[in-house]
Amino acid sequence: MSSPLDPLQKLAEFLRFPSISTQPEHAPDLIACAEWLRELLSSIGLEASVHSTLGSPVVLACTPRDPAKRTVLIYGHYDVQPPDPLEGWTTPPFEPRIEEGRIYARGSADNKGQILAHILGVAQTLRETGELPVNLIFLIEGEEEIGSPHLEEFLREHRDELTCDLAAISDTAMAPGNRPALTYALRGIAAMELIVYGPARDLHSGLFGGAVANPATVVGRLIASLHDAEGRILIPGFYDAVRPLEGWEREAAVALEEAAGGDEAIKELAGVTELVGEKGFTTIERIGARPTAEVNGIGGGYQGAGTKTVLPKEAFAKLTFRLVADQDPAVILNAAEEYLRSQTPPGVLLEIISGHAGAAYQSDPTSPDGFAARKALAGAFGAEPLLLRDGGSIPILATLKEILGVDSYLLGLANPDSRIHSPDENMLVENFLGGIRMNRILLEELAKDS
Ligand code: BES
Ligand code: ZN
Repeated sequence: MSSPLDPLQKLAEFLRFPSISTQPEHAPDLIACAEWLRELLSSIGLEASVHSTLGSPVVLACTPRDPAKRTVLIYGHYDVQPPDPLEGWTTPPFEPRIEEGRIYARGSADNKGQILAHILGVAQTLRETGELPVNLIFLIEGEEEIGSPHLEEFLREHRDELTCDLAAISDTAMAPGNRPALTYALRGIAAMELIVYGPARDLHSGLFGGAVANPATVVGRLIASLHDAEGRILIPGFYDAVRPLEGWEREAAVALEEAAGGDEAIKELAGVTELVGEKGFTTIERIGARPTAEVNGIGGGYQGAGTKTVLPKEAFAKLTFRLVADQDPAVILNAAEEYLRSQTPPGVLLEIISGHAGAAYQSDPTSPDGFAARKALAGAFGAEPLLLRDGGSIPILATLKEILGVDSYLLGLANPDSRIHSPDENMLVENFLGGIRMNRILLEELAKDS
């Protein structure tokens, strides 16, 4: 029997890889991180392999297939978001540190701590009992944070090996107050970049201002044209396909609102004094059940110290739309493009580059597997889980349903104040250790369903 692994030491090792998928210079770090995972998975007794793709490698690991057992696929990702802005971090993002029950590092909660909890849970069960109650497949990718551009093809190619009964995923968060939650809906996403071109070169803003369209002004106007004064999106047809909430969902949202401590708690988490958004919906509804348009980045013109009187030749904005069931990302991107073109004044050229896209995902928390997942959360964390619709996206969920025909159950382990994608990302050590316990109960409960 192999000796037990020290969970926090393993997590710290994992967190030291700067596996930033969006920055090409980190490709070697992604490869090294995938290799580290393969070694770990094989050391605990699984058949593990690394598969190269046109992007970051995919790590697979599985138990032998026993036809008498159900098959569970556990998905996660080893890539992380860029740590920027670096000056926001108390200590360097890839030098993990534990303080007051939290481990701080980029990727601690999203998603290394969460996927590692499952791996260590499996390691423990295998060490203690020699087998798992289900057939298990780990599918761990390195491109989730950039929209999983190569995973769909991988799933199609490896469809037979990946045949399973359901997917279990910890890449979401607990409910406010760090209460366990089964997330049954995530929003979809559709990304686009708009670039506005004006004069052939940057111009003197005194000599030409007043005579030439300013691309930065146009970008500002285009962004402003997305919403009305009440926070509704003005793109024609944008809301046409939105699936309304069912009665039980409204009840779940109220229970969540109470547990969440209302808007005050959300203000605190966001570090704002006022919450804003579409009129007619509660904050919980606006985050979990309504589509939005966000500006993720904007630029153009002089960015250095002091002033420079320039009329920039071009300006850009990066946008993402968060979508809900049954909005089609391709339809939304087309409608947005048509609308933005109609809003573009003469004298400039608008280029639109569509980015990654993924549909929203919903599963049924009252299905037998939904109940199994809820039992696992309750057993590991000692409280009845809330039912959550969350605002983030995991675009591959819709693809898992399409290609493998399976539902995904989302057992989030991140603490709500884990600051994912922000400086000082952290994961509560108790959530990480609880996740290890949860994995064992989960596999036992899922083994019973059929
Ligand atoms: N783990 C998150 C998604 C998430 C976090 C959902 C918390 C619900 C609660 C995931 O890594 C993520 O950030 N996804 C991206 C997807 C995008 C880059 C295609 C997102 O939501 O922005
Ligand atoms: Zn993320």
